[in-house]
Amino acid sequence: MNHNDATRGRFITFEGIDGAGKSTHIGHVIALLEGAGKTVVSTREPGGTPLGEKLRDLVLHEKMHLETEALLMFASRREHVAQVIAPALARGEWVLSDRFTDASFAYQGGGRGLDRAKLDALEEWVHPHLQPDLTLLFDVPLDVARARLAATRTLDKFEMEQADFFARVRAEYLRRAAQSGGRIVVIDSTQSIAGVRMALQAALEPWL
Ligand code: TMP
Repeated sequence: MNHNDATRGRFITFEGIDGAGKSTHIGHVIALLEGAGKTVVSTREPGGTPLGEKLRDLVLHEKMHLETEALLMFASRREHVAQVIAPALARGEWVLSDRFTDASFAYQGGGRGLDRAKLDALEEWVHPHLQPDLTLLFDVPLDVARARLAATRTLDKFEMEQADFFARVRAEYLRRAAQSGGRIVVIDSTQSIAGVRMALQAALEPWL
């Protein structure tokens, strides 16, 4: 897929450790883009297709080998790219995905310690010509994220992980952001909702 094709839609992803507050802000970004006349497709990973949602249920609730977990994330992604993301971009629509491949590098790579070369190979296999145009990384210190999660009623397999797991996930996200050449924009999610919205507006400005 040619990123310079002006008729192609744009691909924006949302990332962050569990409890960083990204879900609160996706609706605002949709409103901003729709206000600017864009047609928006909002989706998520793991999931985003009927099969992907079944895989999501498995991967968030069953114990499994680390590599099985990574493979299922990419299996869900393969369906998602083929059925939802690529067709929408080709139609000129804007795709907003609540998580994408940065999450696999952060969680399976950083958090669980899976060899990065294996993740590189899966990425190359599943979406060799597709990268997000912009990734909004919602960042908060661990204690803030933990406090937000504590207010959640039922926690999934990842949300039940210990603080050191999330410290590794966060560190990997921030490392990737630093090396992303501007693709990944870090949003300080400890700010007020109004402050976060201003930061989002600034990050989206060059695309509107
Ligand atoms: P969510 O709670 O933001 O919907 O994300 C579901 C969980 O799945 C979250 O804890 C992060 C995890 N995840 C991975 O471990 N690897 C991935 O590639 C993706 C997309 C999500």
